[in-house]
Order: sequence, then C-alpha cells, then structure tokens
Amino acid sequence: MSQTDFDAKDFRRALSQFPTGVTVITALDAEGNPVGVTASSFNSVSMDPTLVLWSIDKGAHSLSTFENAEHFAVNVLNRDQVSTSNNFASRGEDKFANADYSAGLGGAPILDDYAAQFECKTWAVYEGGDHLILVGEVMNYRYNDGAEPLVFARGSYAVSAQHPEMVKSSATNENKACEGDFVGDYLLYLLRETYQRFSADLYPKLKNECDVTPEEWRILARMINCPAIKMSELAGMVMQPNVALRETADWMADKGLVEYQDTDTLKITSKGADVGAKMQALALAEEANLLGQLSGDQSEQLKASLKSLMEKLG
Ligand SMILES: Cc1cc2nc3c(=O)[nH]c(=O)nc-3n(C[C@H](O)[C@H](O)[C@H](O)COP(=O)(O)O)c2cc1C
Repeated sequence: MSQTDFDAKDFRRALSQFPTGVTVITALDAEGNPVGVTASSFNSVSMDPTLVLWSIDKGAHSLSTFENAEHFAVNVLNRDQVSTSNNFASRGEDKFANADYSAGLGGAPILDDYAAQFECKTWAVYEGGDHLILVGEVMNYRYNDGAEPLVFARGSYAVSAQHPEMVKSSATNENKACEGDFVGDYLLYLLRETYQRFSADLYPKLKNECDVTPEEWRILARMINCPAIKMSELAGMVMQPNVALRETADWMADKGLVEYQDTDTLKITSKGADVGAKMQALALAEEANLLGQLSGDQSEQLKASLKSLMEKLG
C-alpha cells in the first residue's frame, strides 16, 4: 500500500524531468518466439560483476517471458530509430515483422541497427511495486561510437547536444594568438548556437507569459492552423510516443486548452486558441526582435536559404 497520496499524472511529469536513453529489450518466449519491449528504465549497476538493470510493468504482455527468460538483450537505440521505439512500445502485433535482427546470446534478438548492445544472463528478478526489476549480468557488449543515441525527456524524443556553455563563442574568444576561426565560421556551429540561444530565451518567456511548457507549445503551435487533428498524426509532428502524447493531451485538457473530439482526435478549445494566439504573437515578437538585427532583405534571404538547405537535406 502506498503511504503517499500523489497525483499520478503530476508524479509522472516530475519523473519525466530526468532524461534517459531509449532501449528495446528482447528475449525468446517459452515457444522460442522473439519478444521485445521499448524501455527507458535501463541503467548500469555494477562493474564487478558487470550488472545492468531495467524494470518491466507487471501489466506488460511480455512480463512472463522476461520473468522466466534466462537471457535478454538490451538494444540501445540511436537517433534514427524513433519508429523502432514506437513499434516496440505497441502491443499485440508482430513487432519483429519489420525488424532486421539476428539471434544473440540464448537466442535473444539483437537488432542490426543500434547505438550499443548488451547481451545479458538474467542475474536476479526483484519485486518493484507495480514493476519487476530485472538485473542482468552482461556477457557480451558492442557499441557504435559514430551513432548518436536517442534521448527521451519530458515525454518527447530528443537528441543530445553539447551544452552551449561548453562551447564558448569564438566571437568572444580573447585568445588572439590563434589565427583564423574554423569553428566560429562553421555552418553547424552557427546554426546550433543561434537555435540554442534563441530557444533558451523563448521557452522561459512562453512559460511565464502564456503558462505553456515546450511540449504544450509544440502541440498548440501545430493546432493554430489545424484546430482538429488525429493523435497518431500529431505524435509524429511533436516527436512524442502515443502514450506520452496522450498524457500531455490529458494534461492540456485539464487546463482547458484542448478537448477530445473522439478518442483519437484532439480539438483546440476557444481558451486553447486564445493561448495559441498569445503564444504565436510572443514568438513572432521574439523572432522580429532577433531579426531586427538584419535588414528586411537579409531576413527574407536567411529564411529562404534555410528552407532550401532543409529541402536539400530531405
Ligand atoms: C520511450 C518509452 C519508454 C518505455 N519504458 C518502459 C519501461 O522501462 N518499462 C516498461 O515496462 N514499459 C516501458 N514502456 C512501455 C512499453 O514499451 C509498452 O507498454 C509496450 O507495449 C510493452 O509491450 P508488451 O505489452 O508487448 O509487453 C516505454 C515506452 C516508451 C515509448
């Protein structure tokens, strides 16, 4: 029995402030069929012996497979594997139908694509409330250090980026002994720094003045021009898995910003439209303030150039 009386939605939201990676954990069931689930609860435990852990919801279909499996494999996903994460977070269907994989230790499927892989022998299974905690001894591992890992934070998929404070602006670098400035003149650096500094200013203002979080802002910004939208379509646009999007949508419904037209369609309310308009005005004012540093022609040219670069990149 719980001693606390937390609001479950609020508690989950607090926990989601802790970013994690995303894994697909696999094993073979008693009939020898491959089984896999998306899990962000993976963590390292011990160096000697080499132990890792993760936890599985007692309501998961695959609970008994993992509880009884002698081996399991942890596939740490890379940034290009959002659809793999969504596939293994779904229930029921044959999750391996579209997956490229081979058999690893004890037959546990190892995916062809990965950021890292840990092939484990089940070491212990512990009770953990409504989850079971599975500890594995790592018998084999491999990693792809050219791959950027997929990140999950605040219910959204993300990629890791260097913290802007770690990359001091070359423009302010006082070490004049260095000739030239490769980094400070490099396109990726310029784009990332501009984005980081702009968003670092914008998001706190959106929270203070419109009371919206970055996740709510992404949803409302899409709904300004599209007042009713299918959840499955929105999930891809805002980079949230279906279950996390539903939590954000429930939260926004409690605030009166959106409502469910039916179980799969979200509709903006008049309050949501008002907040959306205020949010859009604030974002445009911030953009105008930034672009005010440039002439009108330069601003238009900048956006046109970025659009054609995006088109080229696909
Ligand atoms: C990013 C992400 C992380 C998840 N982490 C976990 C986890 O750590 N443990 C868990 O039991 N379910 C987790 N889930 C939910 C399961 O993937 C989901 O419930 C899945 O349907 C379970 O599969 P099954 O019911 O076929 O066993 C996560 C889902 C997502 C999208």
